[in-house]
Amino acid sequence: MQISENIRDLEPSATLAVTTLCKTMRAQGREVIDLSAGEPDFRTPDFAAQAGIASIVQGFTHYTPVAGVPVLRTLIAEDLADRHGRATNPDGVVVTAGAKHALFNACFSLFGPGDEVLVPSPYWTSYPEIVKLSRARPVFVPATLESGFRIGPADLDAARSDATRGLLLNSPTNPTGAVYPIEELDAIFRWAADNDICIISDEIYARICFTQPFAAGALDLDSELLKNVVLVSGASKAFAMTGWRLGFSYSSPELARKMTALQSHMTSGIAAATQYAGVAVFRKEPRVEHAVRAMVGVFRHRRERLTTMFRRHLPQAAFVSPDGAFYLFFRIDSFFDEQRRDSISFCSWLLEKTGVALVPGAAFGDDRFARLSFAAPEDEIIEGIRRMAEALAVSAGTR
Ligand SMILES: Cc1ncc(COP(=O)(O)O)c(C=O)c1O
Repeated sequence: MQISENIRDLEPSATLAVTTLCKTMRAQGREVIDLSAGEPDFRTPDFAAQAGIASIVQGFTHYTPVAGVPVLRTLIAEDLADRHGRATNPDGVVVTAGAKHALFNACFSLFGPGDEVLVPSPYWTSYPEIVKLSRARPVFVPATLESGFRIGPADLDAARSDATRGLLLNSPTNPTGAVYPIEELDAIFRWAADNDICIISDEIYARICFTQPFAAGALDLDSELLKNVVLVSGASKAFAMTGWRLGFSYSSPELARKMTALQSHMTSGIAAATQYAGVAVFRKEPRVEHAVRAMVGVFRHRRERLTTMFRRHLPQAAFVSPDGAFYLFFRIDSFFDEQRRDSISFCSWLLEKTGVALVPGAAFGDDRFARLSFAAPEDEIIEGIRRMAEALAVSAGTR
């Protein structure tokens, strides 16, 4: 069967591929320490799960409005208004099947053939593929470890061309944990406004921030900078709800209507039970904040343990301490040799030798790195680092 050009060059998600490999190895009875996960190792808060179940029992099991049930859109708009101290409009909210779906809607609605979209690199693995699905071309903007994995207007200027239409910005960042301070966001959004470039601001990790209660985001900036901006977020990470598939976009009502039309022909809207579980987590209630704070507190503690261990046991593995999300992106190229030539062969070697699963940096556009997820129990993280340090010391002949 001939595959259409629409998806002929599409790469499967590299991060999900590692997760699948770990599951297969476990099914074969092998012990795996999985430090590759892109999702919190916590349960969905009970009150959210119960709200989802109650909605099914009460009969909310039919089609909903395509952009989401009005109560959820209103609560999401109110949550944004509350967190960013500004007025918001529920008509700008489109509820989607996860943040990934919102990113797709936005790219597909804004870009097309001949357009270029700037993607700071290292990038989240799906960005280039989603841009390509919209038939635009991703153009990478390198961010270095030395600059804290953040880019600025000078880097954007160097990468832009007359065809540049968009910028995909992510803070807190997967895979590096970088968090842009408000002044740097302001400079980037100002640059985009001056150059008539749309920004899709992926703020899915906004609540998982170790330096402040919420990372700064698009809605903290002046209104004049937000005319061509789509904010993308959701419940997956902050509320440990990856399997529910609950995301949203917030944009001008005009664009929201277009994206709703697109969605109406793709999914007819999001599962009703998911939306009612969402109503429980977007309400301004102490139990919601409590659930998030408890989880972020655990991530913060793990981050301290893990970065201390890295400095002590793997001093060659340079990294920037993550200020948000739950990943450590560290250099592995000083361990490269005949057998471990790049990030993929390094991670395969490590998995085979020690049972520790990481995601190769190649999945994020930089082959000199690997990503360790600390969305795993603390004792497994510690054991994983111990095994990694031991295997690398043995193979370097220092033991
Ligand atoms: C930066 C980033 N954006 C979006 C997503 C997708 O989130 P969702 O599961 O809500 O689709 C992820 C998931 O890993 C992510 O890391």
